[in-house]
Amino acid sequence: MARILTGIQSTGRQHLGNVLGAIKPLIELSNKPENEAFAFVADFHSLTTVRSAEELKESTKLAVAVWIACGFDYKKNTLYLQSDVPEVAELTWYLSCFTPFPMLENAHSFKDKSNRRSEVNAGLFTYPVLMAADIIGYDANFVPVGKDQVQHLEITRDIAGAFNHTYGETFVIPEPKVDENVKVVPGTDGQKMSKSYGNIIDIFLPEKDLKKQIGTIVTDSTPLEEPKNPDTCNVFALYKLLASQDQQTEMRNKYLAGGFGYGHAKAELLALILQYFSKERETFNRLVENEKELDSILLEGAAKARKVITGILDRVRGKLGYRTK
Ligand code: ADP
Ligand code: TRP
Repeated sequence: MARILTGIQSTGRQHLGNVLGAIKPLIELSNKPENEAFAFVADFHSLTTVRSAEELKESTKLAVAVWIACGFDYKKNTLYLQSDVPEVAELTWYLSCFTPFPMLENAHSFKDKSNRRSEVNAGLFTYPVLMAADIIGYDANFVPVGKDQVQHLEITRDIAGAFNHTYGETFVIPEPKVDENVKVVPGTDGQKMSKSYGNIIDIFLPEKDLKKQIGTIVTDSTPLEEPKNPDTCNVFALYKLLASQDQQTEMRNKYLAGGFGYGHAKAELLALILQYFSKERETFNRLVENEKELDSILLEGAAKARKVITGILDRVRGKLGYRTK
């Protein structure tokens, strides 16, 4: 039995990159009988940037709805909020004492985030330690993530290794699982799709708003009648992620033939997203109106998660010389 675990941060709305890069790959693995999965919303991590309780609550609720709408089986597996299991903060402290300072200074994600923000708090800096606690606090074997998170997994492995080296086998060393077919989902501007770049496609938006978002995908100024290069086009790059082989070939031929504008391509992308995610969109819309149902799912998940991390914390406390239960 392998334990799979992944989290998504609840800042802003979940986008196509999160769905294809993290959520769907985990769900696929979690459905296999030989696996047991832990999925959570990393709302402690969100506090590194969010400064409104309302906003935090709302985006956390939406993130949970996305997990369930995308098909996460919370009965077979475990779905919870990071903040409902505060034991993770205790473990973070222990792990921070095994984390070399320069390792955090050199984290790409910290450098990137701190360069783009005027206020850089210590939470942003120790973010990878909390992430390590999220993972090794549950004896996770595999962590499905997008490519950008691989360095955080290396940090996690290093911290767990350092602890094991000093105190003997305590933590399972986890492995990242990057879906090679997805890699990085591009945003409307062709860069990596990310909430913090303002370039997302949110597949759960009402159709009218989704259409608007797709309308902002950056294209070049080749006139409608001229042939176009699908391989350099942001619309085609997104279309390809969801389309069948036949649909891709058909769209490619339309680009190459000319007389097919970017507006047409965007309309086809919208139709494809609506059709591809129709079931997910329906469940999402039902769940966001049913907070009670979401809450009862989360409380059940937190109880299951707590049981696991409490056992592991006890193991750690014992090794460190603190009182155990
Ligand atoms: P964001 O960059 O929008 O803040 P997060 O950092 O919350 O997204 O990412 C949550 C998960 O989704 C991570 O595992 C991350 O690797 C994955 N992910 C985010 N953006 C993308 C993307 N554009 N392509 C593939 N995976 C992504
Ligand atoms: N840092 C991850 C992200 O921004 C979210 C996250 C927090 C996570 N804890 C985790 C992912 C543990 C995997 C495992 O995408």
